[in-house]
Amino acid sequence: MTEQDSSWNMWDDRYDREDYLFGTAPAEFVRTHAQRIPSGSRVLAVADGEGRNSVFLARQGLNVTAMDNSRRGLEKARALAEDAAANVDFKYGDISDWDWAAKPYDALVAVFIQFADPALRTEIFRGFDIALRPGGLLLLHGFAPRQVEYGTGGPPHRENMYTLDMLEETFPGYRVLHSADYDADQTSGEGHSGVAGLIDFVAEKPGG
Ligand SMILES: C[S@@+](CC[C@H](N)C(=O)[O-])C[C@H]1O[C@@H](n2cnc3c(N)ncnc32)[C@H](O)[C@@H]1O
Repeated sequence: MTEQDSSWNMWDDRYDREDYLFGTAPAEFVRTHAQRIPSGSRVLAVADGEGRNSVFLARQGLNVTAMDNSRRGLEKARALAEDAAANVDFKYGDISDWDWAAKPYDALVAVFIQFADPALRTEIFRGFDIALRPGGLLLLHGFAPRQVEYGTGGPPHRENMYTLDMLEETFPGYRVLHSADYDADQTSGEGHSGVAGLIDFVAEKPGG
């Protein structure tokens, strides 16, 4: 993959470096809550970037598919998986035309996908509901609106951020297993450094 290729994007530029922009360790949220997903579950890691979360999940005995639209990110994710002897099914895809109905998942893991503005976010969250089987788990982690003032990672757009009220309204009927709005040190690689305003949301789709 080179910059001349037409699908090269801003994230390819950011990932085009020797080290891992967000490090190779999973997000603390993923490390803490992955245990909620039963072993062998089919998991989709959404916009997984350089693979730090999907590789960790696969190492926990989960059957992981990871998607992203950065080819450079996917290349590094594949290398990370190989080094860790982790089996992840990496797929190139743009989230705005992802076929959410193609396969039901037992769990979706989405971490820092706040590139999505409110219109795209609505589409994505609708897709999550389609992709999750009844009783499946949604694990969503991102920034709260105050993160824009903190400036320690994420886009400078308050409207792309989450509140717990907004998430509960978006996923009506879901049983919330864990939700939190808090500040914590989010240093990981060079991509995130310092204290961040964070949102956790773990919820079970009804009907299981
Ligand atoms: C802040 S990074 C987070 C990466 C990863 N989830 C993590 O926590 O390390 C955002 C990711 O979204 C991906 N992304 C941005 N726009 C996308 C799109 N339209 N479709 C799929 N992935 C996208 C980027 O390539 C990047 O890997």
